[in-house]
Amino acid sequence: MALLIKNGTIVSSTAEYQADILIEDEKIKAIAENIDPADHELVDASGKYIFPGGVDEHVHMGPFDTYGFETSHAALVGGTTTIVDFAPQDEGDTVINSFHRHKDEKAQGTASPDFSFHGMVMDTSEALLDEIPKMVENGIVNLKFFMAYNGTPFHVEDDLIFKAMQICKDYGITPWVHCENGDMIEVLKDELVEEGVTKPIGHYLSSPPTVEDEAVQRLIYLAKLADCPIFIVHNTTAGACANIKRAQNEGQPVYGETCTHYLAIDTSYLEKDNFEGAKWVCGPAIRPKEHIKAVWKAIEDGTLMSIGSDHAAVVGGFEKAKKRGIDDFTKIPNGVPGMQDRLYMVWTQGVEKGRISKQDFVRLCMENPAKLCGIYPQKGALLPGSDADILIWDPSYEGKILVENSYEGTDYNTFEGFEQKGIADKVYLRGQLMAERGELVGEKGQGRYIRPKAYTVCYDKYHKGE
Ligand code: URP
Ligand code: ZN
Ligand code: ZN
Repeated sequence: MALLIKNGTIVSSTAEYQADILIEDEKIKAIAENIDPADHELVDASGKYIFPGGVDEHVHMGPFDTYGFETSHAALVGGTTTIVDFAPQDEGDTVINSFHRHKDEKAQGTASPDFSFHGMVMDTSEALLDEIPKMVENGIVNLKFFMAYNGTPFHVEDDLIFKAMQICKDYGITPWVHCENGDMIEVLKDELVEEGVTKPIGHYLSSPPTVEDEAVQRLIYLAKLADCPIFIVHNTTAGACANIKRAQNEGQPVYGETCTHYLAIDTSYLEKDNFEGAKWVCGPAIRPKEHIKAVWKAIEDGTLMSIGSDHAAVVGGFEKAKKRGIDDFTKIPNGVPGMQDRLYMVWTQGVEKGRISKQDFVRLCMENPAKLCGIYPQKGALLPGSDADILIWDPSYEGKILVENSYEGTDYNTFEGFEQKGIADKVYLRGQLMAERGELVGEKGQGRYIRPKAYTVCYDKYHKGE
């Protein structure tokens, strides 16, 4: 029997209208007024908005000592039906083999939302350059590089990033880059340790805004020289946003996102008593309020095109993991959970506060993430033929974000105590009801791999050689 959702208000990135949605065989079959309800299972969405299921373009399910896909149902509970993970390169193996292993052994059968991957470079050998031409046919259309994290396998030097860019552009692959000056962070860290700084605020002091601004600008220059489109992940500073905007104004294909916590959490959290500040140690560091304002502005004016969660829920949470750094901030594991509450935070802090419209919400959290990941319009859209990933949203709900409602597996919530307006009333994954008003109601582990297409939206305005 087909499913018919009636009486809701459909919201897309450009419009808002009343219509019915007919779902058959996991797909949206039709969107029209007054679809005949005979023989269909009916869902009444009166007074509710209907969005495409959320798409989170930036999650970490495994590396950085984070939980794997076993907690990925948290995304569904919060209205996100597709997550895109970074498949870590295994030591001594290729990016492509590592991606297949991560997909087949870690995700398949365990992931609850649908899933896709970016490749992630964690080996600095030039063997990388030989495998780039084979990446797209294997399902890798975005390739992640870290300019930070010196002294770990994550760090990649500029020369390799540059050489990779020169090849990526010929295959429609977009480099996704974590921009922070890793060398400067190491120097500042050593100086702070020497001065006797031990508390979590040391994390911010050792990775201040300038280390991000500099790396963002450096990457923009490298990309210009290589003539390659780029995507800059988790922008957090006024300077980074200004650098991106300047490049865009000059016609360079430079794109970027921010992540939820950089829109709401400021450095005062790092200074909380009893080592609590460690809960918010993540890379890049949480910023002072003036940067939060600047990042919102970059969201509002379109400089940044999406909001991911950068979900990185460290196994052991605060008590068992973060506290490893109780005497030394450099030993606090990086990362904050956030895939469950991303949509609540963006809605409450963005739409409800009048910073962005409902259409922007869809553009930033569903449509653009899907486009950036090469999986639009299968995901991120309410269109006939798209997967029936549907989020019925009750805007009248008012509550608080609390760890006791979290499925993320950690012992704290990044957004603990924040106001929550709106709730994922019903969450459908390919037509199947998975979550309802904060509870998982579907079966875990049914997520399906979504194969991306190359030449994502980052190539739309790219004119090679011009
Ligand atoms: O602290 C964070 N965000 N950990 C995840 C890794 C990253 O840099 O995105
Ligand atoms: Zn990063
Ligand atoms: Zn990340």
